[in-house]
Amino acid sequence: MDITKLQDLFKQMTREEKIGQTVQLTGNFYDDDTAAITGPMKEMNVSANDLTRVGSILGGTGAADIRRIQDDYMKKNRLGIPLLFMADVIHGYRTIFPIPLALASSWNPALFEETAQMAARESATAGVHVTFSPMVDLVRDARWGRVMESTGEDPFLNEEFAKAMVRGYQGIDLEKDTTRLAACVKHFAAYGAPTAGLDYNTVDLSEHTLRENYFSGYEAAIKAGAKMVMSSFNTIKGIPATGNKWLLRTVLREEMGFDGVVISDWAGINELIPHGIAENLKEAAKLSLEAGIDIDMMSGGYLHHLEEIIQENPEMETLLDEAVWRILLLKNELGLFENPYRGADEAAEARELFNETNRKLAQKAAEESVVLLKNNGVLPLKTNEKIALVGPKKETQDLLGSWSLNGLESETQSLAEVLEQAVLIEDNEVFNGLNSYKLSELYTADKIILALGEDSFMSGEAASRSNIQLPKNQLLLLNELKQLGKPIIAVIITGRPLDLSDVAHQADAIVNAWFPGSLGAQAVADILYGKVNPSGRLTMSFPCTVGQVPIYYNRHTTGRPFTNKQQGEKYLARYLDTENTPLYPFGFGLSYATFSYSDLTVSKPTFTKNEEITVTVSVTNTSDRSGTETVQLYVRDHVAQVVRPIKELKQFKRITLEPNETREVVFQLREEHFHYLHPDGTWSSDPGSFELMVGPNAEMTQAVTVELIRE
Ligand code: NOJ
Repeated sequence: MDITKLQDLFKQMTREEKIGQTVQLTGNFYDDDTAAITGPMKEMNVSANDLTRVGSILGGTGAADIRRIQDDYMKKNRLGIPLLFMADVIHGYRTIFPIPLALASSWNPALFEETAQMAARESATAGVHVTFSPMVDLVRDARWGRVMESTGEDPFLNEEFAKAMVRGYQGIDLEKDTTRLAACVKHFAAYGAPTAGLDYNTVDLSEHTLRENYFSGYEAAIKAGAKMVMSSFNTIKGIPATGNKWLLRTVLREEMGFDGVVISDWAGINELIPHGIAENLKEAAKLSLEAGIDIDMMSGGYLHHLEEIIQENPEMETLLDEAVWRILLLKNELGLFENPYRGADEAAEARELFNETNRKLAQKAAEESVVLLKNNGVLPLKTNEKIALVGPKKETQDLLGSWSLNGLESETQSLAEVLEQAVLIEDNEVFNGLNSYKLSELYTADKIILALGEDSFMSGEAASRSNIQLPKNQLLLLNELKQLGKPIIAVIITGRPLDLSDVAHQADAIVNAWFPGSLGAQAVADILYGKVNPSGRLTMSFPCTVGQVPIYYNRHTTGRPFTNKQQGEKYLARYLDTENTPLYPFGFGLSYATFSYSDLTVSKPTFTKNEEITVTVSVTNTSDRSGTETVQLYVRDHVAQVVRPIKELKQFKRITLEPNETREVVFQLREEHFHYLHPDGTWSSDPGSFELMVGPNAEMTQAVTVELIRE
């Protein structure tokens, strides 16, 4: 619709109609008439008349349902303003890709873009208009269950993945391309840093840390064009994000230049009451509108109180108008005024969901996401070996992860199903812990695949854990099996970095499969048998004990840094009872190929502000199989006005090398790569020396020093 027409429409809206646009409810309010008497409508005191002016719906239920709801709504809405349908399409709609933390392990933004595009395609045919993704919360604490939805602990990688996902979801023209979705970046801000890893807990970060590490992912998504932002549940500088004017108006709108729609998280407005910021829902609604929340997801605060709030505070009418205008603009950008059903199409949906192309991509994504953490030569398996497959994850179809709302376990094959098709398995027993455990049947096996891990409910929202080891009976099982003296290959299903110390100690190989998605078992099987050479690299450190958490590679140095050479010294930043280093560091992952690094050089030892530095390293595949390596470049600023991280990832390159092939990998660095946040709030560099480190992960790097000089 052209903008003047939209403005005319806006002028015709009553205040009640405008308030309606700011309200979001779940689809079950529109189920049938009984909802009015018994169900959610009663609970939230929503009338049938209210339902004709609500602006958006949450939760995707398929093309037929969404068409029915829209159809009925359009007949009843006085001005014919269509409903906006939003859903949590997090890592796939019906075809489920690996969880985001797994996808991130591919270090392949193009793959992220492809999976996002496909998720958009599937869900758009099912009638979804907006996805509550990407989640770009930086994470450092594996106790927090929602690390599974994140892309890890590094700001630069988070930015790259955020941009890729927004591109994949939105494409370039949402109006014309009805196979795309509008993206809602979340959770603004710093939801990934709850104290003690406890979901919904207080976040208490300095403004410096927020700006230096936590904001950049959201900003990258916004710069890439994300249409919506979701506020987080947590506090920022002592004020919950949903009622935080500084965060939503100063930082988000003024500094980051965001001009799209801001939505609260689920009942986030209501939560200002238990947070102790508002006395009642009316006060919470007032604070939220003032702070800059345009859409109230499921608290009822805007629906029931905005009218009165504006009558009492007429100056707030403009805030309502601005919010509604932004919502209308988004509906218009999606082309809903011309085509309220948009992509919702039952026939297309039937063709699109879980089709062969989508399944192929899900398998490729899983192949690139799996991280081989240990291998003392037992992998890949040979087809003539007798393999016993045991463990509680042997037959599970719970491989999709907790944010796969439309994925079907019934369409997901278990490891046992896939491996039975692919290879000889002598032992068909299901080993669910020690009770059903029959040692005798394992004696004939050459190697044991032990499938262990979390259930999907153990990570994700409201799934914090204080102990991040495998469940006890799984560790007992590993212990018992170890007595057989056979090689053990642990396959780990998980949504978070676990403390795998015991497994690392006892198993001969560890294949970290994450929640690998609809085609995950196939990908794992192909990796086990060497059809696919693993290439995943961690984007979040795996601790050796939960006591190290939060542990992350880009930590600050201290005044008493500890190195392994100082074993006998006490008064240093070190633990008495464990290492400072993680079990598996950021960037780590093995391949069946081996790589060596040599001849690290820089184009010149000194450079000025306008010069580029070229960093070159030779990487050789020293094995007899082709493999993919991720070459990582880190920088350390030796002396600055604020304490700087011991290293920061600046660039990386994924390369595939044939046996014995050597390739020169070249990185170009500019002065901007050395910028940091100064005490006065500006981003710039200071002259001085920098260490450039190149290697296969954050712990194993070679270094050269360069100096930035004034012209
Ligand atoms: C709560 C979650 O925090 C958020 O990520 C999600 O998008 C909403 N619920 C809607 O389901």
